[in-house]
Amino acid sequence: MKYIPAFILSLFLLTSLSNSYAQLPHINEKQIAARVDSVLALMTLDEKIGQLNQISYGIGWGPTVKVAVPGEYAQMVREGKVGSFLNAIGAEYTGELQKIALKESRLKIPLIFGLDVIHGFKTTFPVPLGEAATWQPELAELSAHYQAMEAASAGIHWTFSPMVDIARDPRWGRIMEGSGEDPYLGSLMGAARVRGYQGNLSDLNIIACAKHYAAYGAAEAGRDYNTVDISERTLRDIYLPPFKAALDAGAQTFMASFNEIGGIPSSGNRFLLNDILRDEWGFKGFVVSDWNSIGEMIAHGNVPDLKHAAELSFNAGLDMDMESRGYSEFLEELIKEKKVDIKTIDESVRRVLRIKFILGLFDDPFRYCKKEREDKNIMNAEVKNASLEVAKRSFVLLKNDGGLLPLSKDLKTIAVIGPLAASKEDPNGEWACQGAAEDVTSVLEGLTKFTNEKSKILYSKGCEIDGVSKEGFSEAVEKAKQADAIILCLGESRNMSGEAYSRSSLDLPGVQEELAKKIFDTGKPVVVVLMNGRPLSLGWIDENIPAILETWFAGTMTGDAVASVLFGDYNPSGKLPATFPRTTGQVPVYYNHKNTGRPGNPGNRYTSKYFDLPLTPLYPFGYGLSYTTFAYNDLKLDSEKITKDQSLTVSVKVKNTGRYDGEEVVQLYVQDLVGSVTRPVKELKGFQKILLKRGEEKTVTFTLTEKDLRFTAADMKFKSEPGMFKVYAGTNSADVKEAKFELTE
Ligand code: GLC
Repeated sequence: MKYIPAFILSLFLLTSLSNSYAQLPHINEKQIAARVDSVLALMTLDEKIGQLNQISYGIGWGPTVKVAVPGEYAQMVREGKVGSFLNAIGAEYTGELQKIALKESRLKIPLIFGLDVIHGFKTTFPVPLGEAATWQPELAELSAHYQAMEAASAGIHWTFSPMVDIARDPRWGRIMEGSGEDPYLGSLMGAARVRGYQGNLSDLNIIACAKHYAAYGAAEAGRDYNTVDISERTLRDIYLPPFKAALDAGAQTFMASFNEIGGIPSSGNRFLLNDILRDEWGFKGFVVSDWNSIGEMIAHGNVPDLKHAAELSFNAGLDMDMESRGYSEFLEELIKEKKVDIKTIDESVRRVLRIKFILGLFDDPFRYCKKEREDKNIMNAEVKNASLEVAKRSFVLLKNDGGLLPLSKDLKTIAVIGPLAASKEDPNGEWACQGAAEDVTSVLEGLTKFTNEKSKILYSKGCEIDGVSKEGFSEAVEKAKQADAIILCLGESRNMSGEAYSRSSLDLPGVQEELAKKIFDTGKPVVVVLMNGRPLSLGWIDENIPAILETWFAGTMTGDAVASVLFGDYNPSGKLPATFPRTTGQVPVYYNHKNTGRPGNPGNRYTSKYFDLPLTPLYPFGYGLSYTTFAYNDLKLDSEKITKDQSLTVSVKVKNTGRYDGEEVVQLYVQDLVGSVTRPVKELKGFQKILLKRGEEKTVTFTLTEKDLRFTAADMKFKSEPGMFKVYAGTNSADVKEAKFELTE
């Protein structure tokens, strides 16, 4: 099987971009502060407030390109009443706006342009949940690097990404935008994306924005924008770690979230925005609101009107107002009424100007507005290849009964069926920015290209993604009957996950399952290729279809990646970053749950379980098969006890016992058996993705220290506590070997 092992590929791609993968350059804060103060000293109050005002370019929300600069915006820029635009796209159009700022405004303060570059600017990469399934932070960094290169070439300075919200409820459509249910994996992926976007702040890098701060993914019932009511301990131990990791990786901006936490909307929550973010964590950047999240505090019932909202948000530590217009309308009045202190205004303006300085915009305001860079750096072969490699590694093989996969390259006739088979729109996923359907290789196109007329490819849509019509079934069955194998492409549309796309059901939409039954009844070998933005309850499909490949929304190169994996040019290596439930009713179900006083026991009615469902999920966190098999043995600890200043070495032998070379994500979990507060039954504390040739065995080692065992204890201090621990190592969060050790004083 020819393929580029993940780590070799990423090393190649990383080293080939060596100058782009440097960390943030040393920022001479003192020098910048002096330059910032020299500008601040010249500014009127109006101009200061202008820097805290961000508006969307063009018509309303959403990326708008090729719109001549509306007169009202030009005037706002001339008067210094706006410091940033979002959704202004293109070297030319951002250049137009920058020109007005530099040539027609009094102080010639450059604008900063923000955009939602979430998983690609024009070349789309797998949606972040899929990218997390690679369990390769280096690939997330690579992907972010290329996203930044394309966006920066189109005049963009700042992305509202990475989204680092932990999500335990797949009904929530925005689970697609994050890295799933685990704080450790989410932290590594979030930090990697920050590094990839910001790099060494060259003119091919963009400022990152950790969002949505905080706990947006904990919305009750998975209903977007809904109430969040979690303990401070859960906030700190589950939802905040990826934000802290993003900050430690150098994230220069944060975005406040729409939701409340325990009655206080995040956009007016001083405990979050100041006490934790600045006092505890030392954040130097600035915080932008989410779209009108300041204004939405009125609907929350936290303030009576926009003026109070502006006062509350600003005094809570929210620096820049995205689209509520509350700051531009009321801050001057609030200062006059002494409800807002001009010193606080100066602090926020300093933070915004500082970012413009570190981006080099004062030295060269047009460094991002060079048209020729668009043609050179956008959707070129290098970016597309990177997208292809990430896509292949994001796929998770859920089933492969009888080794149906990889398919033989000698198949005479292949039927490609289903509502997602020929789709060029859906593989881009939501938040696809400038990603266009015409640039996508559909599964049908990819398979046709791969087989290169050696096999006859038949196609039938069969049914719509959603809807009740079964009119297409008969044609699909006819095509299936003529084939030696069937690739059945099922799942969700791109508009069923992402913002404001919460689903009350996790089942396959429409009549897709019925189509699958008809296709299955032909008796031909069937492979289901899933395209979806969230874990799904696969029901009959999982019980009956022999091979299932989870591909999420894999972006521009979807078809090429699917063909490469189905025919075995790449052996799938992805692992689930989020649990797949058996039914919607089983949600929330996640691996790092508490034991409870009555842990579920099928043999005892009076324990924590559903009587109409097995205890376990359909597929656990960290699950993913390979075309080969791996055996785990000899889990060993180099000591049975460690003190707080010692480390523990964990080793486990992993052997490739199958017929193919393959990569395996070896996972390490820990359980704190007794704590001053209840502790999860498992917590991911390490993983290594290794390549094993057929028959090869490796010993994989991990090092644990007491730092890895810390949590927010009963006294709210973040610390480890002495006592007994279990260590687990294995191929997913459920299938593990275990050992014990003690942490002593
Ligand atoms: C949206 C989203 C946020 C995005 C912002 C700007 O409502 O919540 O993730 O960055 O508005 O588009």
